[in-house]
Amino acid sequence: MEFENITLTKEIPIATIQLNRPDVLNALNHRLLSELVFCLEQLDSDDSVNCVIITGNEKAFAAGADIKEMAEADTIDMLSRDSFSAWDRIRRIKKPVIAAVSGFALGGGCELAMMCDIIIASETAKFGQPEINIGVMPGAGGTQRLTRAVGKYRAMEMILTGGMMSAGDAAKSGLVNRVFPVELYLEEAKRLARLIASKPPLAVKLAKESVLKSEELSLKDGLEFERKNFYMLFSSEDQKEGMKAFVEKRDPRWKGK
Ligand code: CAA
Repeated sequence: MEFENITLTKEIPIATIQLNRPDVLNALNHRLLSELVFCLEQLDSDDSVNCVIITGNEKAFAAGADIKEMAEADTIDMLSRDSFSAWDRIRRIKKPVIAAVSGFALGGGCELAMMCDIIIASETAKFGQPEINIGVMPGAGGTQRLTRAVGKYRAMEMILTGGMMSAGDAAKSGLVNRVFPVELYLEEAKRLARLIASKPPLAVKLAKESVLKSEELSLKDGLEFERKNFYMLFSSEDQKEGMKAFVEKRDPRWKGK
C-alpha cells in the first residue's frame, strides 16, 4: 500500500508512524485511518520491530475525525462506511504502541491517543472531546476510555462542555504518562520505545494483553487470565534465558521465542 497520509520511519527495533495531513491538523479521514491500520498490522507481524510510536506534528497530533467527510452523511452512510471497524483493528495490535502528542489531540485524535498504551506529551498538547460543539458525541471510545483514564467527573465535564485539557492537567489526571518541552517529546517517546523494545518481546506482548484485559474483566477473571499468561511464558526460551542470565550475572540475549 502506498502511503499518502502517513509516513513510516523504522529505526530498528522501533518504528514511528507520523500522521501527515498537516493542512487540516491531521484530521482522520477514511484513507488516513486505512493506511494507519494497514501499517500497524504490518509492523505487528514484523519481527524486527518491537515497539511502535504514533505521532503527529508540533501543532497537531490529530484534530479529530474529518468533519468535512462526515458532514453530509446520514445514519445509513455511517453504518455502511463502517469506519469504526478500523478502530477495532487498532485495538487488536499486540505490540506496544506509544502516542507522542503535541498540539491538538481532539475528538478522534484524543481517542486515537487513548487507544495507544502510553501517552507522552509536549507542553503544548491539548486534549479534548469537542464533538458536542458540532452536534454529536464521541464515537470512537471517548466516553469509555476518557472516563477510565481521568474519572467520571472530569470526563463528564470535558465531554459535555467540549473543553480542552492542558498537557499538565492531563498528566495530573492520569491521561498522560509524561510531559516534555516540545523540542524533546518525540525523542523522549523514542527513548521509552527503545527501552520497551529491549525487553523480551513475548513477555511484553502478553503483559500488554493482560493489562488491557483489566479494563474488561472482573478482578477474579483478570487474575486468572494473568496467571495463564504468566505460566505460558515458561514455555519460552526467553524465560529460560532471562532467569539463567540473572543467575549467571550477565545481560540476557532475547530471542522473542
Ligand atoms: N476535520 C476536518 N478539517 C479540520 C478538522 C477536522 N476535525 N480540524 C481542523 N480542520 C481543518 C480546518 O477546516 C482548516 O482547514 P482550512 O484551512 O481548509 O479552512 C484547517 O484544518 C486548520 O484549522 P483551523 O483554521 O480551524 O485552525 P485553528 O488553529 O483556528 O483551530 C481547532 C484549531 C481548534 C483544532 C479547530 O480546527 C477545530 O475546532 N477543529 C475541529 C475539532 C473537532 O471538532 N474535532 C472532533 C471531530 S468529530 C470526531 O472526532 C468524532 C469521533 O469521535 C471519531
